Amino acid sequence: MSKPVGIVTGAGSGIGLAVATHLISKGYKVVIADLNPTTGAEAAKSLGPDAKFIQTDVASYGSQARLFKQAYEWGGNRLDFCHANAGIDDRQYIYDDKEELDEEGLVKPLNTKSMQVNLEAVIQGLWLFKYYVRRSKESGGGKGKFVATSSAAGLYYMTTNPQYTASKYGVIGLVRSAGPVFVKENITVNCICPGFIPTNLCPPQILEVWPKEHITPMKTALDAIDAFLGDDSMTGQAVELSLDKLYFREMVPWANASQKWIGEESLSIWDEAYSKVPTKTGY
Ligand SMILES: NC(=O)c1ccc[n+]([C@@H]2O[C@H](COP(=O)([O-])OP(=O)(O)OC[C@H]3O[C@@H](n4cnc5c(N)ncnc54)[C@H](O)[C@@H]3O)[C@@H](O)[C@H]2O)c1
Repeated sequence: MSKPVGIVTGAGSGIGLAVATHLISKGYKVVIADLNPTTGAEAAKSLGPDAKFIQTDVASYGSQARLFKQAYEWGGNRLDFCHANAGIDDRQYIYDDKEELDEEGLVKPLNTKSMQVNLEAVIQGLWLFKYYVRRSKESGGGKGKFVATSSAAGLYYMTTNPQYTASKYGVIGLVRSAGPVFVKENITVNCICPGFIPTNLCPPQILEVWPKEHITPMKTALDAIDAFLGDDSMTGQAVELSLDKLYFREMVPWANASQKWIGEESLSIWDEAYSKVPTKTGY
């Protein structure tokens, strides 16, 4: 039987590299997808023949679509796992008081690259993953595990990175909404919400002063991946990683019975309404 195949984005460094290494130790073939050609290629080389580097900019749909097609073909027409993990912090402060104007005198837009990489790319990644998992049955697959990387910032707040925080909240919303639906076709959708794990995401001057008692070890992230891999019924989960523990986070409680009814029981009304619209294109 062929080996299961995974894609890990942002696998040239940090959490992605650790997850890719872990998957290979568990018998997977893994595509290292990263924007950085140097670290990505080095990572794949150090991991051996079951790793392949594909340079990818997840913020570009075309680049990500090519990644998925190439990964599926390299894996023998099979895809089983995706960790949509690539992420960046905010590239411009929303608090900036040096806004620039264009020729028309309009305020130029805020740089929202962190939204594109951390959220938009994750949504498109799930879209692509579903397509290839459905086509993996004949090659021994057909069961998919999709994991996204949110953040503890997606559960709390981070005043220094508001767009980043919004993107990480968005990832949790995606997982909680789509996760329970995809399980019907053997795809689970979950996310990790790391506390502070020392990686290249963090500027060196912060790493130097960060108190050791507030560091979450990389092993906690791998424990979460193992929890998702080991349980086919676990979907729609956001797991916070703090120190050596996993905290499976519930959504906020329903405000009242009305909100609970809308959330849990109004689906048939929505389904009925949408069934009269052949496609949502055009909305
Ligand atoms: N380290 C932490 O404490 C922490 C905490 C919470 C969440 N996270 C999240 O974990 C994820 C991984 O971060 P990390 O800490 O391992 O950081 P990292 O900087 O070590 O790794 C991120 C990787 O993503 C790659 N990348 C960036 N933009 C990309 C793009 N457009 N396309 C493809 N690859 C791209 C980078 O080249 C890098 O190799 C991120 O989503 C981050 O937001 C990290």
